[in-house]
Parts: sequence; C-alpha cells; structure tokens
Amino acid sequence: MAKLIIVSNRLPVKLQEKEGKLTYKPSEGGLATGLGSIYKEGDNIWIGWPGMVVEDAEKQQQIHEDLHKESMHPVFLSEAEIKEFYEGFSNETLWPTFHYFSQYAIYDQNLWETYVEVNQKFCDEVVAQAGPEDTIWVHDYQLLLLPSMLREKLPDATIGFFLHIPFPSYEVFRLLPWRKEILEGMLGADLLGYHTYDDMRHFLSSVNRIIGHGSMHGWINTGSRSLLVDSFPMGIDYEKYATVAGSDEVKKRENIYRANFKNQKIILSIDRLDYSKGIPQRLKAFEMFLERYPEFHEKVTLVMLVVPSRDAVEKYKELKEEVDELVGRINGKYSHINWNPIQYFYRSYPLETLSAFYRMADVALVTPMRDGMNLVCKEYIASKLDQKGVLILSEMAGASKELSEALLINPNDINQLVESLHAALVMPEEEQVQHMRNMQVSLRRYNIHHWVSMFMDRLAYVKIKQLSLATS
Ligand code: G6P
Repeated sequence: MAKLIIVSNRLPVKLQEKEGKLTYKPSEGGLATGLGSIYKEGDNIWIGWPGMVVEDAEKQQQIHEDLHKESMHPVFLSEAEIKEFYEGFSNETLWPTFHYFSQYAIYDQNLWETYVEVNQKFCDEVVAQAGPEDTIWVHDYQLLLLPSMLREKLPDATIGFFLHIPFPSYEVFRLLPWRKEILEGMLGADLLGYHTYDDMRHFLSSVNRIIGHGSMHGWINTGSRSLLVDSFPMGIDYEKYATVAGSDEVKKRENIYRANFKNQKIILSIDRLDYSKGIPQRLKAFEMFLERYPEFHEKVTLVMLVVPSRDAVEKYKELKEEVDELVGRINGKYSHINWNPIQYFYRSYPLETLSAFYRMADVALVTPMRDGMNLVCKEYIASKLDQKGVLILSEMAGASKELSEALLINPNDINQLVESLHAALVMPEEEQVQHMRNMQVSLRRYNIHHWVSMFMDRLAYVKIKQLSLATS
C-alpha cells in the first residue's frame, strides 16, 4: 500500500537518557506539535533525528526498534554533525538569514559542506524506506537540498516540500554565498509550500533573479520539469486543544494556579527562547506599561513561559542572559512583598499545564519580530472555551494574515504595544467574545487536517498536470 513519508530534521519525539534508561518526550516547536497528530495514520512513517547523540551500535538498534513501533525511523547524527549541520549551518546561517537577522549569520564553507553531507544522509534513509508509489513530504530549512537529492535517485517520485519559517526577500536571501545551490536543491520538489503568499512571492522572485526561471500562476518550468509553488497557512489540531482545555484535569490545574493570582489579570507569553520571538522587546513594553499605568500595579501579572532551545548556540546563550537580567531588573523595581509583576519559568511544560495557562490568560502576548506562522496564538484561541480573552499579535507572524480580529501590533513600536496591552486589559467582555468567536470559527475549519489535505490534493494535482504537460 502507498504510504506517506514525512521527513524533517527533528522527530516528534526527543530521546533522553536518565540513569542509563532511554525515555522519549514530545519535541518542542511548531513543526512537531503541528504534524504530531497526523503521521500515525495507515502505514505512514516519519524519518528524522531523535534529538540526542547515540554512538553505541547496540543502543542505536534498541532505539530503531522502539521508534519503529511508533512509525518512526531515526537518522543518527554525530557530535560533529550536530555542531556543524544543526547548530552551525541550520541555526547560525539559515535561521538568522530567513528571519531577517542576517547580521547574526555566519558564512562558513565547512559548515555548508557538512550541511550537504547530512542532507545526503537523510536522502539515503528515505531512499531505503521509499516504495515507488509512496509520497515523500520534506519539511523545513534544515533539509533544503533534500528534494533535488531525492529527485536524482528517484526521478518519478512524488515529492512535496514545506517551509515552516519565513522565506526572506530576495535582497536578504541573496546574501547567502550558496543561494543558487539552495534554490536548486528546493526545485527538486513537485510542490513547494509556504505559510503565506508573501513568502511564496519572495521565493519566486529569488528563483527568477538568481536562477533565471520565471513563473506563471506559481508554476515554474526548469527546462526539464514543471513544479508548483503555493501558500498553505498551517492550522492546528483544533479539537485536541479544545478537548484538553475542557477536561477535568485541566480545570483542576487552572483552579490551583488561579489561587495564586487572586484579583489579578493574567497576561501570558509562551515561546521557545529565540531572538526571533521578540522576548526582550516584550519585556520592555511591559515595563513601560507598568510605568505608564500605575493603577495596574498588583492587578496584573505577566506569566512568561520560556522553553529552552538551541542552548549551545552563542546568540541563544546571550539572549538567555539578557532575558534573565531584564526580568530581574523589572521585578526588582516593581515587586511588592505579595506581588511579582513577572512570573518567569524557563523550562518546557506538558500540554495540560499549557492548556490551564491558556484558559487562565486574560491576554496572550504573541509578539515575534518574525515568525513563519506561530501556532501558540492559535492554540490560545482554541483553548478559550468561554471565549473571553484578548490576543495581541505581531504583524510579523504569518498567523496575522488570518487572525485579523486580534489586536495587531508592530513589535518594533513599543508605544503601540503598551497601548494595546492597556486596550486589551480594559476591553469589554462582549467585544472579547465577539472577536474570539469569529477567530474560533475560522481556526476550527482551517485546522491541521484541512492543511494536510489541501497540500496532498494539490500535490496529486501537480503529478497529473505534469503528465498532461509532458504529453501535450
Ligand atoms: C521551529 C522550526 C522547526 C524546529 C523547531 C524547534 O518551529 O521551524 O523546524 O524543529 O523550531 O527547534 P529545534 O532546533 O529544537 O528543532
């Protein structure tokens, strides 16, 4: 039977070893949480890195077997590959460039060469698993070369690619020394998907100006093949978030947490620790809010959950220090014996805890400097069963294109952020409910299942169209 092979750098589970025992925890980040619910259908499999260095062959075998039972196939990376491919080229070259932080980008030929080698390693594993009828769906910036590598080995394969982060404007993309090779790597796919129309347009413009292929209605002809580029805004597993939020367990947790915030409004912020998320800017805006609106002292708390991420990368270490310092400074300045304006947690949390926080939050503050989509804001909306609460959302997140009923802000405009916080905290309940309800209707409909079927249907259509183009 034909199956779907999902390929991404990170598997939806993360391997950990405690006292010689292997354990598997859910992975963080939009890709893993977004697709986590769908890959187990039928004979589908997911190929990716299990998140830990494992050199011992016996242990590797054990992990293979454990993961196989859960429809996953591990690709093991050595310590050097993690440094050069994952931390290096993926997260110190591509990530900053694609998020418009090109001043943070490192250009190093050695890192690039390891990036090519690791993409080849993934290619070998996919080729070993793929049957002729299978559909291969490659995800994200760590594997930009994989579509063409696969095309070379499996010329007739059905290959989709989806980018979960922004695709930058040509003027930024062209800074990369390997810009041509990267585009050529991506063009091996039959269908290339982006979260937004703007990302797709930026990609088409780079292909045109760097490689010289024009496009018509998203179709590119490379001379030997035709492929399609389109936008598919990713949704969430809406029912899962709504159901968890309505469970007794989550209600119980919410009651316990609430007891600590009597007569206070809660502003919630949840992100991986990443400079693209605008965490220091958000903290500074909250500080300015406290200064400008002293009547809210002791009446509001910012609950800030920061999930550790890529902590071996220099810029992430520096950011951690900056956040720690800012939180300390603001709390030091405003805290009372029975009130801390910021409750800061640096760790990851299970879904039930996040859900209780979503339920509790009067305001969700989602203010990235850049974000491909951002699923946290969608999870917040799906968890608001009573429809009370306000979302403040950055215009620079892909999600802002769909969630126009949120309070949209420019994260560089601190004054606007402060005034939006105030507007959110005093917004009448009927108005909150009206906006929340409208956003819920759209997110429930355009959920993760809708996203997957839109992408898959379009991919099947591309294959049919390619045949008719080849015979005409
Ligand atoms: C973002 C990326 C994903 C990545 C996730 C977590 O959502 O788009 O590809 O997996 O961040 O980052 P990590 O480096 O821990 O995989």
